[in-house]
Amino acid sequence: MGWNNWNTFACDVSEKLLLETSKLLGDYGLKDLGYQYVVLDDCWSVGRGDDGYLIPDTAKFPRGMGAVADELHKEGFLFGMYSSAGEMTCARYAGSLDYEVQDAESFASWGVDYLKYDNCYHMGRMGTPLISFNRYNEMAKALKKTGRAILYSLCSWGEDYVHTWGGSIANSWRVSGDIYDSFARPDDLCACNNAADPACVAPGTHCSVLAIINKVAPYIDRGLPGAWNDLDMLEVGLGGMTEEEYKAHFSMWAALKSPLLLGNDLRAMDATTLSIVNNPAIIALSQDPRGRAAMRIARNLTVPKDEHGVGEAQVWSGPLANGDQVVIFLNAADEDLDMSASLAELFVLQGPGGSAAEAKRDWAVRDLWGSISSSGSGGGGGGGGGARMGRADAQAVLDATSEAERGAVLRRANWYNATEKPYAEGLAEGDARLLGERVGTVKAGGRLEARVGRHAAKVFRLQSAAGGGGKADAGSTGGDDDGSIGKDEL
Ligand code: GAL
Repeated sequence: MGWNNWNTFACDVSEKLLLETSKLLGDYGLKDLGYQYVVLDDCWSVGRGDDGYLIPDTAKFPRGMGAVADELHKEGFLFGMYSSAGEMTCARYAGSLDYEVQDAESFASWGVDYLKYDNCYHMGRMGTPLISFNRYNEMAKALKKTGRAILYSLCSWGEDYVHTWGGSIANSWRVSGDIYDSFARPDDLCACNNAADPACVAPGTHCSVLAIINKVAPYIDRGLPGAWNDLDMLEVGLGGMTEEEYKAHFSMWAALKSPLLLGNDLRAMDATTLSIVNNPAIIALSQDPRGRAAMRIARNLTVPKDEHGVGEAQVWSGPLANGDQVVIFLNAADEDLDMSASLAELFVLQGPGGSAAEAKRDWAVRDLWGSISSSGSGGGGGGGGGARMGRADAQAVLDATSEAERGAVLRRANWYNATEKPYAEGLAEGDARLLGERVGTVKAGGRLEARVGRHAAKVFRLQSAAGGGGKADAGSTGGDDDGSIGKDEL
């Protein structure tokens, strides 16, 4: 989890931007929710010196890269940098191909903690999994040789079946061409939606949230602790999607265990954006100690389509560490839908045909985008739990003029702090702030049903009514009027 400058700033990078952003990550309570990596993308060097080592651009980074790392480390952040497994980076700065050892040495000497390693200008060294593997493995070996722990993030856009070999040498691998700020709009620049398609020659750019989800669905299970599918950086807050679309985007990235790298300008963040990316109940899906991505268990293409011919509905389901199950109803149709799934379907991975023991139990249903409320009236774990920060609190966090004032707002809202209580601990304790708002029950053999708005997602945590890991809030049948109640209870 962290922030990367590319989606908003592209090449407009500087020490000032990184340090101002990290300050705000701290102030707004985002670092304490887990956003710890500050990642500098392309365009930071002025080339390679005669000695073969990269030279940072001192107009952008007057004190050099080591000073940036030191400042970030002092504040408890981790520092990410970027290069490409090519003769040039994608923005045509010097790349690391055949200079892996020198560049890894530089990164390690500067105190870098994370390397994003791109795929442009590879000099034709791609086309089979082995050729790409060997090219990326050179940097893996060089990083290892430095002795410094550097998270290695491959950015080969899903090429050459990277999901089949990325985990052997790296911590994450991009699965698609570049994301853009659209929920579902198809674009010819992102033509490569199916890795098995022989016509898939250019992963490209302008990949919508839906295109990326559909591309990764068949191999989402390749992600494991320490080796993750990377669905690309977040677009939340950039302005091209609706609030519901951004909530769906963020929820899917969390439940699918993609890295969560914010891509917005924190200096111009609004309350809606903050109250999406600081939802601890959604982040707890991302940070779940079991580390398994949810998987798609149903896809319905026979729903109303938009002017581009796009329209579908999907159900995703996956086990969580404490015995709970996450369920997402994703509505990418062109109208609101009544969606439902039986427990037999939701637990198909644990046993097909309703054979799973889980399908024969009662489940409490909790909505992870539960009540939007202000301090003291729910959000922040009071009463039946909650999930999302109230708009007024989010605005107060952004408006506060001193650290003390901000701290007071976060404390009054009883906001989750993963520095004080790691997610694994909070989940084991059944901390209500991570569990969402109780909205109903699904009885053994029953169905989960919900009305889901157009281009929106409903995100539920099913909690074993028999106990499971998290504590159910006893006696509450909960419920609100949005229809998100297990049918058999009613
Ligand atoms: C692309 C990469 C983007 C960004 C950009 C920089 O290849 O996928 O995430 O890093 O290069 O030029």
